[in-house]
Amino acid sequence: MSSTLLTGIGELVTNDPDQQTGVLGVRRDAALLLDGDRVAWVGDRAVAPVADHQVDVGGRAVLPGFVDSHAHLVFDGDRAEEFAARMAGVPYSAGGIRTTVAATRAADDRRLAANLRWLLAEMHRSGTTTVEVKSGYGLTVADEARSLRLARQVTEETTFLGAHVVPVEWADDPDGYVELVATTMLRAAAPYARWVDVFCERGAFDADAARRVLTAGAAQGLGLRVHAGQLGPGPGVALACELGAASADHCTYLVDADVAALAGSATVATLLPGAEFSTGSRYPDARRLLDAGVCVALATDCNPGTSYTTSMPFIIALAVREMRMTVAEAVWAATAGGARALRRDDIGVLRPGSRADVLVLDAPSYLHLAYRPGVAQTRAVWQSGRRLDLSVG
Ligand code: NIG
Ligand code: FE
Repeated sequence: MSSTLLTGIGELVTNDPDQQTGVLGVRRDAALLLDGDRVAWVGDRAVAPVADHQVDVGGRAVLPGFVDSHAHLVFDGDRAEEFAARMAGVPYSAGGIRTTVAATRAADDRRLAANLRWLLAEMHRSGTTTVEVKSGYGLTVADEARSLRLARQVTEETTFLGAHVVPVEWADDPDGYVELVATTMLRAAAPYARWVDVFCERGAFDADAARRVLTAGAAQGLGLRVHAGQLGPGPGVALACELGAASADHCTYLVDADVAALAGSATVATLLPGAEFSTGSRYPDARRLLDAGVCVALATDCNPGTSYTTSMPFIIALAVREMRMTVAEAVWAATAGGARALRRDDIGVLRPGSRADVLVLDAPSYLHLAYRPGVAQTRAVWQSGRRLDLSVG
């Protein structure tokens, strides 16, 4: 692979604390050298090294590609009617997941893979270079394993979510379903998964069931993540912190003890305001978490039920407008914060040795991500040093 020097960078967001220029480590009039799949050099344009290729970005802003650390992309069908009904006042319930489970089971591999790649291409077009993908719409041993096998073809960040909801055929024996998830289903899924996740919520799985599945996953060598506090306060956040989960996701309803537990742990609070937008519920209190010293990430939660968006810029705009995050905090949470939630230090940052995942914005400053909501502002994207084709179709 050859080297590429990006020049003419009006504003470079590095997220490198060594830059000592605020939370985003911003540099001006910078250049960035990509060599193979890595960043090789960051510095002043005036002293930039020579490279095989040079790309002048014309004064635009350059950032690490977004790290979308929470998405459900293996499914078939949509739930547009359910969304429309919700906007007319029908409340969201976890049971809607079963609609997508039925459609997903009925779809063949080709169809699921095509939908996955279509969503992934959308993500690239809005600047995402790493995505975590969960199973959770198969809910049989074979369907969960195939969901993860398909996900593994597009990302190394795959998560087994057999404990998404109790499927209809197990409605009379939810404990039996939890046992299946923690044993046979987990063993079939584990070869394709890096993480295990549980929807710990009223209407889904309680603390005992979540503990059973998470500890079984940990024993198989999987890292832990928990859907917690989305629809009401519950035991999910405390459990995530106690078990050393990488992330507690949603965190919309928190009690003081949850905030204290997050602040005293290495568990990231991943906020998913696309879900609040689409369910019409209140937004998470990001300021309460940030002011308590909790590490906050932002992600799309892309799924056909509660958040059918692939756009990290939209999530950033929501976080700034509705959750009182500063633009810098939101951009950090969508890049370095997502990396932290995946326990990665090679992404979400631009410094020598990090992965060459680069977003060139069609704007002079990262501020425009929140300032110009709904506007496509992706000029170019490099993923592992390879420039992506962002054309549609
Ligand atoms: O993260 N909360 C659980 N899972 C998804 C919703 C899935 C669905 O409704 O299909 C979420 O919001
Ligand atoms: Fe989710």
